[in-house]
Amino acid sequence: MAQETQKIALVTGGSRGLGKDMAMSLSGKGISVLITYNSKKDEAEAVVAAAQANGVKAAALQFDAGKISGYDGFITSVKKTLHDVFGVERFDFLINNAGVALYSPFAETTEEQFDTIMDIHYKGVFFLTQKSLPILNDGGRIVNISSGLARFSQPGSSAYGSAKAAVESLTRYMAKELGERSISVNVVAPGPIATDFGGGRVRDNADINGHLSALTALGRVGRPDDIGGVVAFLCSDDAKWINAQRIEVAGGIFI
Ligand SMILES: NC(=O)c1ccc[n+]([C@@H]2O[C@H](COP(=O)([O-])OP(=O)(O)OC[C@H]3O[C@@H](n4cnc5c(N)ncnc54)[C@H](OP(=O)(O)O)[C@@H]3O)[C@@H](O)[C@H]2O)c1
Repeated sequence: MAQETQKIALVTGGSRGLGKDMAMSLSGKGISVLITYNSKKDEAEAVVAAAQANGVKAAALQFDAGKISGYDGFITSVKKTLHDVFGVERFDFLINNAGVALYSPFAETTEEQFDTIMDIHYKGVFFLTQKSLPILNDGGRIVNISSGLARFSQPGSSAYGSAKAAVESLTRYMAKELGERSISVNVVAPGPIATDFGGGRVRDNADINGHLSALTALGRVGRPDDIGGVVAFLCSDDAKWINAQRIEVAGGIFI
């Protein structure tokens, strides 16, 4: 691939689930990918190999979204990897995807659980994006990953759903302030998807899967490949005029 036409996406949480499918969809469109993993290095390396098989450059870095004090060191590693592996100093698309689940009733949620969720899903997105700005190209794109649970409410998701709601508001503020650099910012809100998330409960618990399928107009829960292509589209030229939008990708749930 010619150096001057190379576009690079940084996908947090690209080792499994939705982030893996995003990396595959992006690389399938000729976009090079730098993915992160938290603990599953082998899975991340398999995604890197699969992306490279699509004919792009790819690499993986360890990143703990819940450790904000480590973000400066992570950005230093991103800069070195961009230089050493991709031969550039900046990237084009930031996909804020990494995350963990919390199912805990409002009355029982501890401050520690709350802080973990806020750090990973909200404070982390705020500061990783802020710290990425010097190495994000003008004209780039940011896609934040929210959840249907920011729009509708289900028992046990008060901390998680409200953190995702904060990211949706943050998306509009980012779009407002980064437009002067021609950077567009959108938020994708998946409905329930059959991944490892939350111990794989949407995929593996037949009662939960059936309940959520029945609530969905298209009659099933989502699959990772329902999401990755939408994120890749938002990074494509066809999506260049979409900005500050929330796109729910959920098969029509609670409509
Ligand atoms: N699945 C759903 O039903 C659903 C619905 C709506 C929104 N979402 C959102 O979609 C995103 C991806 O979810 P998923 O279903 O793909 O989950 P998943 O299959 O459990 O994968 C989670 C990914 O995030 C990484 N990760 C976990 N904890 C991390 C941490 N502390 N720091 C950095 N990275 C971490 C994991 O890395 P390792 O592989 O190294 O552990 C993995 O790559 C999340 O933001 C989630 O909130 C999911």
